[in-house]
Amino acid sequence: MTTLVSTFAEARAHSRGRVGLVPTMGFFHEGHLSLMERARGECDMVMVSHFVNPLQFDRPDDLAAYPRDLHRDVALAESVGVDLVVAPGVAEMYPVEPVTRVTVAGVSDRMEGALRPGHFAGVATVVAKLFAGLRPDRAYFGRKDAQQLAVVRRMTLDLGFPVEVVGCPLVREADGLALSSRNVRIPPELRERALGLVGGLMAAADLAETGEREGSALEAAAREEASELELDYVELVDAAEVTRLARLDRPAFLAVAAQVGPIRLIDNVWLEPANDGVTADRGARLDHQSVLYR
Ligand code: PAF
Repeated sequence: MTTLVSTFAEARAHSRGRVGLVPTMGFFHEGHLSLMERARGECDMVMVSHFVNPLQFDRPDDLAAYPRDLHRDVALAESVGVDLVVAPGVAEMYPVEPVTRVTVAGVSDRMEGALRPGHFAGVATVVAKLFAGLRPDRAYFGRKDAQQLAVVRRMTLDLGFPVEVVGCPLVREADGLALSSRNVRIPPELRERALGLVGGLMAAADLAETGEREGSALEAAAREEASELELDYVELVDAAEVTRLARLDRPAFLAVAAQVGPIRLIDNVWLEPANDGVTADRGARLDHQSVLYR
């Protein structure tokens, strides 16, 4: 049975043993469920936070259109053994207009940070509040938001939170599109075009695995397949520092973003060079339709 509460104090009152937190903005898909399952396997108690954080939205229309259904989400969380969902309202999370922001310099500067001013400060601020208020031992984040993962890791290190940040593989829909709650808003006629993002990343991953190390060649491969899309960026970056890499000579991710109709899509492949080659983590792929469309 999953307990639903709305305050940090109530959540803490239920806390027991090693607590694994999965921070979310709700409207769950298999990406979220995979984080919850991982936490279930590694922790005594699994907590999920469910809060659409206004601080991290740079466009009011995007915030207003963000899909929400708490009861659906609690049922899905229960299906994977989550102990507690904490779903604070905006008034509980921000009782007064917050003027404090946690900014993570450097890691936040490129890509999403450059295109969505204030976005990562909003993310880092709310995650810091979740860590302080819920006091988890571990917190689980998807590699779909690879730059966010780097920001959260650095914030956790700099502020000294005693939380182990666990990065988990991205999950793709059956056609390859990276799972995102926003996918329900992709106009059907643009879906095929959106898949160019995935095709480009897979082509670049193939190239890296067959020996290509030049950042510009890997980026060009990703761009070529996505030629029908208006790309915001294609960048090969250091996985921890999020600085641009001219050569794939350390753990990295190749990230892409594009506006597809009313929504922005982001995606990436994780590339890890080793002595005898490169391992590309393309993410897991569903063999059925996502729960997003139920
Ligand atoms: O990835 C998300 O869903 C959000 O950015 C997070 C980490 C829950 C913070 O609001």
